[in-house]
Amino acid sequence: MSTGIADKVALVTGAARPRSIGRATALRLAQEGAHVAALDIAQPYADFPGHGVAGTDDLESLVDELEALGVRAIGLQADVTDEHAVGQAVETVCRELGPVHLLANVAGGSGAGFGAAPLLDVPRAEFDKVLEVNLTGTFLASRACASRMIEHGEGGRIVNVSSQAGKIGWPLLGAYSAAKAAVIGLTQVMAKEWAASGITVNAICPGTVDTDLLNPGNLFVDLMDASQAGGFAGWVEREIPLGRLQEPAEAAAAIAFLCSDDAAYITGESINVSGGQMMA
Ligand SMILES: NC(=O)c1ccc[n+]([C@@H]2O[C@H](COP(=O)([O-])OP(=O)(O)OC[C@H]3O[C@@H](n4cnc5c(N)ncnc54)[C@H](O)[C@@H]3O)[C@@H](O)[C@H]2O)c1
Repeated sequence: MSTGIADKVALVTGAARPRSIGRATALRLAQEGAHVAALDIAQPYADFPGHGVAGTDDLESLVDELEALGVRAIGLQADVTDEHAVGQAVETVCRELGPVHLLANVAGGSGAGFGAAPLLDVPRAEFDKVLEVNLTGTFLASRACASRMIEHGEGGRIVNVSSQAGKIGWPLLGAYSAAKAAVIGLTQVMAKEWAASGITVNAICPGTVDTDLLNPGNLFVDLMDASQAGGFAGWVEREIPLGRLQEPAEAAAAIAFLCSDDAAYITGESINVSGGQMMA
């Protein structure tokens, strides 16, 4: 049965890192027949070296993988916080692949040296940067795509990636929690403002996903290793009702569902995908 995704043009941000929700989403949408533009900053932040990011080779290998699935694909190196670059990227997608219909705002994160610390120790510049990447980037890409979707007149789907940390404040992730809570608010406003144009806007709130974000050096993983019986693995077993980390593909499946025809009547929602870790 068709999900309605085949032959649609999708833009996925934060797509390059080898084991990431964005890459899994790009591949999942392509498996369902979408033509995919994969956007990523694909370079380390000079000013926040602790925040791991992908390289241009990761973006190139993703495009190869997408094309091998029989769809058209392009890679775009851009920073979602750069308004001009985002505008140019959306123009490129529409010119090279056709009118953009699906947008997955996946770029984001937090980490050591990137806003993950007790609030008393978070420098203003790190706080601002975390809001910029997670919140402003989502706004800029959504606005650029929505104006093209409205112009084209065939509606569209936008899925934002918030977090369980956007539903309840997480100590040590203050900037991130604030940004992801704001993504939920932004999702609702975009859903209301663009509903009349046939655009649905939803968010997913993943729990603890086994991506490169959780590599050694992650403040939370290190803290659990140091403080919990059985370390991080023991914490996962006790705190996540399903007893295991989430696979990136499981977050991607929820995003694909929200892009599908089956989700046509769902808008403004922020859906937990957390193995039971977050139920509110
Ligand atoms: N991993 C988790 O446990 C988890 C849980 C909840 C929510 N999330 C959210 O899911 C999303 C993806 O997380 P992930 O775990 O796959 O992270 P990841 O670090 O593995 O991937 C993030 C990707 O975004 C790219 N990126 C970072 N800044 C960018 C920018 N300014 N412009 C363009 N691209 C940029 C990186 O290069 C990378 O490819 C993030 O928004 C994150 O906050 C992750």
